[in-house]
Parts: sequence; C-alpha cells; structure tokens
Amino acid sequence: MAKQVINVQNVTKSVSIDGNKQTLEILHGISLTANAGEFLSIIGPSGSGKSTLLNAMSGLSKPTSGQVNILNIDPYQLKPAKAAIFRRTQIGFIFQSYNLVPALPAFDNIVLPLRLSHRKVNKSKIYKLLKELNFEANPNNFVSDLSGGEQQKIAIARVLVANSKVIFADEPTGALDTVSRKIIFNLLRKLTDQGVCVVMVTHDIEMASATDKAITLRDGRLEKVIEKPTADALFQALNEEGS
Ligand SMILES: Nc1ncnc2c1ncn2[C@@H]1O[C@H](COP(=O)(O)OP(=O)(O)O)[C@@H](O)[C@H]1O
Ligand SMILES: [Mg+2]
Repeated sequence: MAKQVINVQNVTKSVSIDGNKQTLEILHGISLTANAGEFLSIIGPSGSGKSTLLNAMSGLSKPTSGQVNILNIDPYQLKPAKAAIFRRTQIGFIFQSYNLVPALPAFDNIVLPLRLSHRKVNKSKIYKLLKELNFEANPNNFVSDLSGGEQQKIAIARVLVANSKVIFADEPTGALDTVSRKIIFNLLRKLTDQGVCVVMVTHDIEMASATDKAITLRDGRLEKVIEKPTADALFQALNEEGS
C-alpha cells in the first residue's frame, strides 16, 4: 500500500481585513491526501485559493482551523528550530516569487540548503542539472542579474538537488517557455517515480492532465478530486458553474 505523505483535514483559513475590523474566510474546510510517489496538481481560477491552500498544507502558514500532517508530523506543533530542520531536510518549496537570495550567486543559491544542513555538494551533478534545464547564464552571476525565467530555473534546481521527500510548487513554470516547462515537468516526474510526493499548483490544464491526481478549487472550496485526470475532464470541471 502506498505510504501517505500528506493529510489535510477540514482546513480553513481566515485573514483579517479592513484594519483588523473584519475577518474574511479564504479557504472553507478543505480535506485531501497525497501519497509517496504521487504527483498531485491543484488547479482553479486565479483567486480561488490555490496559493493559500499550498501555504497552509506545506507548513508555512497555519490554518485557522483543521489539521495538517506531513510525513505523520503536524508541522505547526513543532518548535521553530525543529520546524526549520524539518523543512530543510524533508520539504522542498518552489515559490511563485522564487524566494532566492539576490545578493548570492546563482550557484550558491542552489546549494544553500545543502550547506545549511552540512550535506555534500556535488558540483558536477549541479552543472549537469543546469545543462538539463537549459540554463544559459553563468551560474556565478548574482541572482539579481538573471531574467525571471533563469531565476525560476535556479529555484527549481535548488529543490531538485535537495533530496526532499515532499515538494510543494506554486506555478513553478509560470515564467517559462513550453520547452522548459516540459523539461521541468519531466524532472519532477522522475522524482515521483523515485517515491517523492509532488504537489503542484498550476492553471495549465495540459500540465495538470499529466499528473496522477488533480483537485479543483473554486472560491476557496475543493470542488473535485480527479484521479488520472484527462485534459477534457479538467476542462469540463473548470468550466462547470459552481453550485
Ligand atoms: N492576506 C490576505 N488578505 C486578504 N485577502 C487575501 C489574502 N491572501 C489571499 N487573499 C485573497 O484570497 C483569495 C485567494 O488567494 P490566493 O490563494 O492567492 O489565490 P490563487 O493562488 O488561487 O490565485 C483571493 O481572493 C485573494 O485576494
Ligand atoms: Mg497563487
């Protein structure tokens, strides 16, 4: 039986608005699971809560209510130092905003998590990966001198070398051309084949249709869980009126 890696139960998320005078519920009771080796996609219109859900389920932003477990650990119960180690050693993040360190060269950004956890840096493996990613700039250049697409590749390379058991990616190929998108998808797929659990937010139907399971969000609610999604099934789910 496949090992469960992520378990999200009845998660809600509210934020204060209007100078703390009001609260707005963004996520309304979401439950889902994902297994080792599974490629899960989260798809839905802009503003439907995809990023908020990813942040809540990945241990970055505590839900207002409900439960999150990653590898049988509730990340929100960990003390800050333990939480940092848990994230660094088990979880990879690819953010929409890349979250790179601009004052460091690209290469140093990739190996930062390895250095922080005193792991070996295999330079030739990293150069090979950059080549596979069609990274065309000099890895010694500062991140601030790279284009958006090149920065995205660095953020992806950083996750690919870290040996995480779970990867959370928020529109990881948004800034990239079709060929790079395909290359990155294939690299993530290779990781799920090795037992990694990948959770990817996307609004790309074609990419979602190549994952193992898609969940559709609308207005902060989980609408459908589609196993082995096809592009047609996703298109239909996304175009149905919410009831
Ligand atoms: N901190 C916040 N304060 C107020 N509204 C927020 C906040 N974060 C997200 N939202 C709102 O919640 C909804 C979902 O946002 P988000 O998760 O970023 O959507 P998606 O990633 O699907 O585009 C949006 O309407 C957004 O404006
Ligand atoms: Mg988003």
